[in-house]
Amino acid sequence: MQKLFFTQFLPNHFQMKIFNVIIINVLVSILCYSQTQKPFLMQTDFHPAQIWSDTNGNPINAHGGGVIFFEGKYYWYGEHKLAGKSEAQFADGGIHCYSSEDLFNWKDEGIVLSVDYQDEKSDLAYGCILERPKVVYNEKNKQFVAYFKLYLRGIGYETSNVGVAVSDKPAGPFVYHHRFHGGGSPKGSGDFSMFRDDDGNLYHLTVRKPDKAFVIGKLDGDYYYPEGDYQICKGIELHTEAPVVIKRKGVYHLLGSGSSGWKPNAARYYTSKSILGEWTYHGNPCHGYNKIDSVGIEKTFGGQSSYIIPVQGISDAYIAMFDIWRPENPVAGRYIWLPIEIKEDKFSITWRDNWNLDAFGQ
Ligand code: DGJ
Repeated sequence: MQKLFFTQFLPNHFQMKIFNVIIINVLVSILCYSQTQKPFLMQTDFHPAQIWSDTNGNPINAHGGGVIFFEGKYYWYGEHKLAGKSEAQFADGGIHCYSSEDLFNWKDEGIVLSVDYQDEKSDLAYGCILERPKVVYNEKNKQFVAYFKLYLRGIGYETSNVGVAVSDKPAGPFVYHHRFHGGGSPKGSGDFSMFRDDDGNLYHLTVRKPDKAFVIGKLDGDYYYPEGDYQICKGIELHTEAPVVIKRKGVYHLLGSGSSGWKPNAARYYTSKSILGEWTYHGNPCHGYNKIDSVGIEKTFGGQSSYIIPVQGISDAYIAMFDIWRPENPVAGRYIWLPIEIKEDKFSITWRDNWNLDAFGQ
């Protein structure tokens, strides 16, 4: 064996010891590297409830999010959770964006709207709660408008605002624009869905505070402020959270959850022939069991709904997005994406350990 230059003058047992130390160090370094940074492998499947890494090998940090499609790319916007902070220690860092052409492999586009770490008086001052961002494109103004639940620093969950930020590009940066109280209530409103109908009208469907009625309001043409009064969505149970609305073949479908803080509960599913209601309840649309976390449908596989993605290029293909919250270590929260099956025009969502777009059968 060729000797290392500096060992040539040492006795044999010392040479062996040094050789062993070098080998052990190399092995330990490889092990540490592989635990901190996963090398990027092209992904061709979804693996619900498992760690999902971006194209840099870092776990995706976009919780409570939504996805839009613009000029050939999907953009995923979600809550950026700060490492080392629990929810109680204010883990919200802003809106994080990722882009993808195939829905499996996501490129980190960075934090496109940050909380403000300098100005304590800012609406976005660090210590605010910034949740469930959703982005909508306004054709009229050629503007991307981001909406999010915003609880000002020092206020807590009692009084909520809808924060609004804008950008002329999908991957931001977004500039904070203003806030308003949703639901027509001085206490604001909580979880929401922004639904843009075929005629371009944008609606804010949300759970009003403090009475937890589920209400709908239309926004103005700029998509900045509610225009006119909110009205109750008849047929939708009180305390409905985490809503997402989509329209298919002239029927509106609403997926949501009950209200139990960060803890999961059963999903709720409604349809209506008009966006203003009345809504018909169809119970829990979920089936199956999440073996990874040992949770069934009474707790939505351990998740809470956040969005439904229409898949481009495949007709009638929709993906339901859910979050597994980890309030003690929110950055470690996971994602459950599952295909929506449609039978007799009704949605159902069945657990899968892994799946790909072939699930849509085309
Ligand atoms: C459930 C909501 O859906 C989440 O966005 C978050 O606000 C938690 N409640 C807080 O308990």
